[in-house]
Amino acid sequence: MKLSILAAVSANGVIGKGGELPWRLPNELAYVKRTTMGHTLLMGRKTYESIGRPLPGRTSIVVTRQADYAPHPEVVVVNDFASGLAAARERGESEVFVFGGESLYAEALPEADRLYLTRVHAEIEGDAFFPAFDENAWKLLEEERHEADERHAYAFSFQVYERA
Ligand SMILES: NC(=O)c1ccc[n+]([C@@H]2O[C@H](COP(=O)([O-])OP(=O)(O)OC[C@H]3O[C@@H](n4cnc5c(N)ncnc54)[C@H](OP(=O)(O)O)[C@@H]3O)[C@@H](O)[C@H]2O)c1
Repeated sequence: MKLSILAAVSANGVIGKGGELPWRLPNELAYVKRTTMGHTLLMGRKTYESIGRPLPGRTSIVVTRQADYAPHPEVVVVNDFASGLAAARERGESEVFVFGGESLYAEALPEADRLYLTRVHAEIEGDAFFPAFDENAWKLLEEERHEADERHAYAFSFQVYERA
């Protein structure tokens, strides 16, 4: 099973603010949907609650330390990151996407095979961050830039990295 990380990150490393995404980029959401469709999303409890429902066409695995957390019958709940990976593997998943937030990204990064990073080309204020990572340890496979327009306040680039 391939372990992938998927995140949208500002130029100053921000991924979230006040429990929400600090931007509205509809074409980025569509890219995330295309990229993850049919696969498993592994996310922290706060990220799940900010989305508020299991995303259609994907298996949602939510990590929490709460013993009796049961947000939705379709959501698989686990109590640590390793159990989340094991649950995805047991389901026969070929590529699991770590979907945030900050602590899940930090836990996944040392083990990840791929990074799908949307670089949001702006300095944004926030309170949740993507962990610092050594870009020399990663090889950029793809990059596609989109300019700001009337629906997108910031320019952004889709990047796909594989571990070098
Ligand atoms: N830009 C992006 O691509 C992106 C993606 C995802 C999220 N976000 C943003 O990031 C923010 C949320 O992220 P966050 O870092 O604050 O929270 P988070 O990682 O989504 O959730 C944190 C919670 O997950 C559980 N958890 C995390 N690691 C665990 C572990 N190893 N074992 C057991 N439980 C664990 C705990 O839940 P309990 O408290 O229930 O025990 C913890 O309080 C929001 O602003 C969201 O919009 C941005």
